[in-house]
Amino acid sequence: MDGPVNSKGGSTTSVDVDDLDLSKLLDKPKLKIERKRSFDERSFSELSINVRQLESYDSLYSPGYRSSGIGTPLSARGEAFDPHPMVGEAWEALRRSIVYFKELPVGTIAAYDHASEEVLNYDQVFVRDFVPSALAFLMNGEPEIVKNFLLKTLYLQGWEKRVDRFKLGEGVMPASFKVLHNPTRKTETLIADFGESAIGRVAPVDSGFWWIILLRAYTKHTGDTTLAEAPECQRGMRLILSLCLSEGFDTFPTLLCADGCSMIDRRMGIYGYPIEIQALFFMSLRCALLMLKHDAEGKEIIERIVKRLHALSYHMRSYFWLNFQQLNDIYRYKTEEYSHTATNKFNVIPDSIPDWVFDFMPCRGGYFIGNVSPARMDFRWFALGNFVAILSSLATPEQSTAIMDLIEERWEELIGEVPLKITYPAIESHEWRIVTGCDPKNTRWSYHNGGSWPVLLWLLTAACIKTGRPQIARKAIELAESRLQKDSWPEYYDGTLGRYVGKQARKFQTWSIAGYLVSKMMLEDPSHLGMISLEEDKAMKPLIKRSASWTCVKPKEDM
Ligand code: GLC
Repeated sequence: MDGPVNSKGGSTTSVDVDDLDLSKLLDKPKLKIERKRSFDERSFSELSINVRQLESYDSLYSPGYRSSGIGTPLSARGEAFDPHPMVGEAWEALRRSIVYFKELPVGTIAAYDHASEEVLNYDQVFVRDFVPSALAFLMNGEPEIVKNFLLKTLYLQGWEKRVDRFKLGEGVMPASFKVLHNPTRKTETLIADFGESAIGRVAPVDSGFWWIILLRAYTKHTGDTTLAEAPECQRGMRLILSLCLSEGFDTFPTLLCADGCSMIDRRMGIYGYPIEIQALFFMSLRCALLMLKHDAEGKEIIERIVKRLHALSYHMRSYFWLNFQQLNDIYRYKTEEYSHTATNKFNVIPDSIPDWVFDFMPCRGGYFIGNVSPARMDFRWFALGNFVAILSSLATPEQSTAIMDLIEERWEELIGEVPLKITYPAIESHEWRIVTGCDPKNTRWSYHNGGSWPVLLWLLTAACIKTGRPQIARKAIELAESRLQKDSWPEYYDGTLGRYVGKQARKFQTWSIAGYLVSKMMLEDPSHLGMISLEEDKAMKPLIKRSASWTCVKPKEDM
């Protein structure tokens, strides 16, 4: 999203009124320390969905709130723990990026890079960028900023959103927002971008999902259920998910998306059913299930969520999953099978399998590929989607282990010298021209096209802890520590090994800083994982066998 925000009318919306009745929710979080049941336990048992609890994490650390000394990172104060010298600087940089609205901290700007000639929209609070900041603040016992952010973005969701003459869906959450100060009038104004100002004008499908995931992280960590239970938040969740659960012409339970609708917010050939969005969709559905009330309005959407989760997990685990065996099967696929029992369900032509994937695929390991749609499989690796699949338990335990095996087997390619690749491999030459539309920022091994993004470190670390492989995270963090501070916390690195500071990378990119802090705190105290991870739901066991997947229940012949 590099488009400047149009503050002079146009399609950008702005408002400088007091924040309606949400202000009443903006007081200090009410912490229920003597909680009888954990938030998750309540919801799971009420739904009678068979999910193993995070026993060890829960008993240790739920609610996990602890209060911090002002301005001092908790993780830098522990006696047993000797913090890396970078940790202190990272906290300072993170605090410098805090944005205030009417004296309340409401988020963090994307980058604090004054040396850069162009600010573009890096001075905005991006919803997706704030997630690692929020986790860092939660882990450090500072939930207020997270609560304020959740309420502020919820309020922005309520705006009427228009692009030219077209009205956007009610549930759309902003990609980013900004606070405008008018020193003469002494007013503060919020302006938000729902995609209308961004380059390419694409709405951020991931924003709403991250909002739900963060609401659950806040609730889980603080034990404060009042926020999620507030009618405004319940409505916000319902609106976000209604956008995704409506019936249309789809034959798949996955969500059809435009290119550029996620962290990769420019044309990169991810239109269709990108793994990044499917994994976030799955995770937010599961998080919402834990928080939605079983009242008149909640009941109906809960039913739809449960059905969709079953269909989505089956589809993803069966058709997006690729390992050596599966690749070999696709390689031998017959085409043009016309029947419900077809093996090659999407009529993928084996000749369309790119050469690189045959060499890349190790005997040990596997991953969820980038995209699956009729006659099209995008075999690229996408880090965020795979890690979120592990954290949400969209991946089965076997699949999670296989993803971590792949990371070990293909360390150079996926982690490189500075962790870690957003996607692999890069697209080049003719393909780059066609797929990216000749994007000069997304040239091979740069930015979204095979660049390395330090922010992804927190997702890798969380996945490592969940799969019991912390040593992988340790190794990656060490690599990051050898470069990040020295290079002034770049947004991304370029090159096949991620060795060069990115061509147009911002410095002091907030999520690079926060991502590092979150990784460190999680490794130091693995119980933090609970706020961003969901255990496997046994009721969603996959049927990997390629059996008939089409069923048609005929109506009773009673008419
Ligand atoms: C870039 C990234 C996007 C991020 C934004 C702000 O546009 O592609 O994911 O949210 O910068 O950092």
